[in-house]
Amino acid sequence: MSLKMTSDPRHILSKDGSSTLYSPIYQQFYHNPNGAIAESRHVFFETPGLDSFFSENKSLTILEVGFGTGLNFLLATDYYLKNNCTSPLHFYSIEASPVTSTKALELNYAEQLSSPDLAPVLPNVFKELNSGLNIIKPVPGSDITLHLFIGDFVDADFKDLTTDFIFHDPFSPEVNEELWSSEVFERLLGFSRNHTILTTYCAASKARGAMANAGWFTARAKGALGKREMTLASPDKNQLNGYKFLNNERLAERYRNGAFS
Ligand SMILES: C[S@@+](CC[C@H](N)C(=O)[O-])C[C@H]1O[C@@H](n2cnc3c(N)ncnc32)[C@H](O)[C@@H]1O
Repeated sequence: MSLKMTSDPRHILSKDGSSTLYSPIYQQFYHNPNGAIAESRHVFFETPGLDSFFSENKSLTILEVGFGTGLNFLLATDYYLKNNCTSPLHFYSIEASPVTSTKALELNYAEQLSSPDLAPVLPNVFKELNSGLNIIKPVPGSDITLHLFIGDFVDADFKDLTTDFIFHDPFSPEVNEELWSSEVFERLLGFSRNHTILTTYCAASKARGAMANAGWFTARAKGALGKREMTLASPDKNQLNGYKFLNNERLAERYRNGAFS
């Protein structure tokens, strides 16, 4: 597919003081305007227990759908460094429309992290990108590898990838529908192990139905910053113990019957 490079996203400060972008193409913010960093921490790190995973200094693989500003990657890097990790961290991500390096200079994330010297990381990443798979070691002296596919999700070719965590972070299903289908979640299941946990800010029944129909067990948890709910999913139901299970059979059946269309 052709990359959508036309309209430049606009920088704004979210209510916790951290940067986000507004996409004129999707007419949506990249993050919750009430707090970009606060939302990312809650949805992708704290709720699935990934923040404590870092303290164990184990080898870790993360797959993200929608690299966007790179905030989630920078947060993962910050947790890694804060915990003095030395094991490999492989961060896979996919982005159809990368922002420019100049735009990345406007993002203030590093100021709010434990390692403010990470400020050049995102502008440097965005400066180096080519279409297809980019394999980058963006943090000198660490064992962090960024595998960033520039192109459409359907074309992302991550050979032999099996991941521990999935950050499902496209725009909402209303405007970015192609990334919320059952086929997408089937593909993500193919990158997963039994213990893999997928999280997303989204609580839409249609999205949950697509996951359930693809073979994921699903659960709900409290959403970030006043949002009522978010969603977790895993190939193994036991990984979701402690969260509130959703009725998977019913969701999958309703999805197949077109109840959410
Ligand atoms: C909500 S933003 C991601 C936010 C990001 N995780 C961050 O921390 O800044 C969604 C991203 O998904 C990308 N995207 C949308 N559809 C896509 C597709 N079909 N393939 C790849 N990327 C896509 C958009 O360009 C956008 O950057």
